[in-house]
Amino acid sequence: MTAPYTDELTARFGYDLYLGGPAEDSPADNAWIKQVLLRRTHRRYSDRPVPEAVVRLILAAAFSASSKSDFQQASVIRVEDRGQRDKLAALIPDMPWIGNAPVFLVFLGDARRLERISKHPVKNGSLEGFFNATVDASLVLQTCILAAETLGLGTCPISVLRNHIEAVGEILALPDKVFPVAGLCLGYPAQQGFISMRLSPEATVQEDRYNDSRTIPAVDAYDRRRDARHSLKDRQRSPEIFGAAEFYGWSEDKARQAMSGEGTGFAAWLRAHGFDLGK
Ligand SMILES: Cc1cc2nc3c(=O)[nH]c(=O)nc-3n(C[C@H](O)[C@H](O)[C@H](O)COP(=O)(O)O)c2cc1C
Repeated sequence: MTAPYTDELTARFGYDLYLGGPAEDSPADNAWIKQVLLRRTHRRYSDRPVPEAVVRLILAAAFSASSKSDFQQASVIRVEDRGQRDKLAALIPDMPWIGNAPVFLVFLGDARRLERISKHPVKNGSLEGFFNATVDASLVLQTCILAAETLGLGTCPISVLRNHIEAVGEILALPDKVFPVAGLCLGYPAQQGFISMRLSPEATVQEDRYNDSRTIPAVDAYDRRRDARHSLKDRQRSPEIFGAAEFYGWSEDKARQAMSGEGTGFAAWLRAHGFDLGK
């Protein structure tokens, strides 16, 4: 008998990840877990509109996410006005899904609300305030993604908004201590899409204390598995800087991407918008 999740684990990790434990402890076949294991980002959407009741239900589920200290420091802007959407989309012409998606949301870390509701001199512009609001907004974002996918929608988070933080802050009229974590495109998928493989537990799960001694061989094996499924050989990033690699895997691609210095203006913008990031 094959284990209940063999196909889904193989699709996600590239091999039949052994879950371990006695057979009787093996989790029962669960349709939602399978759907999560097979989930994928979608960047092309059909013309089918997303009903208002669906958007509201998804947002209600999203805001059911856990919240650090019950501070509830996430907010969402629904970008409904075509002019507003076009202004955001024009900032990032190489991602047309920002303008094309039937629904576009922006998830905000909102460190302002705690100060606004307080009769006491709360100061929430510290690193703690920023970090808590970031975590809350991220949890609401991911819960929104899973809720949307559960209802058959496809999504694509958009963090490149932060690469244009001055313009985005102005378009969305963000006050001090409110910042975008990511946008989110939402719509019924126009294509099946594909599953993006993840690193194996040897690279990501450790026991009792930090120990990344298995990382390099695990990533090397991952690079090869991923390359066998979907090669990046002919899509090498910035060959004029890095040259053409004979074997071009995920780790080389991500290292080159991380060299590009994305989001460099963000810290200065935060400091100019109410965050001292101290203490
Ligand atoms: C916080 C965050 C920001 C992202 N920003 C973008 C983005 O700006 N543009 C884009 O096309 N995809 C974006 N993505 C989607 C990722 O590229 C995608 O999740 C990743 O490649 C893994 O693919 P998968 O979600 O299909 O498994 C973002 C994802 C996250 C979680």
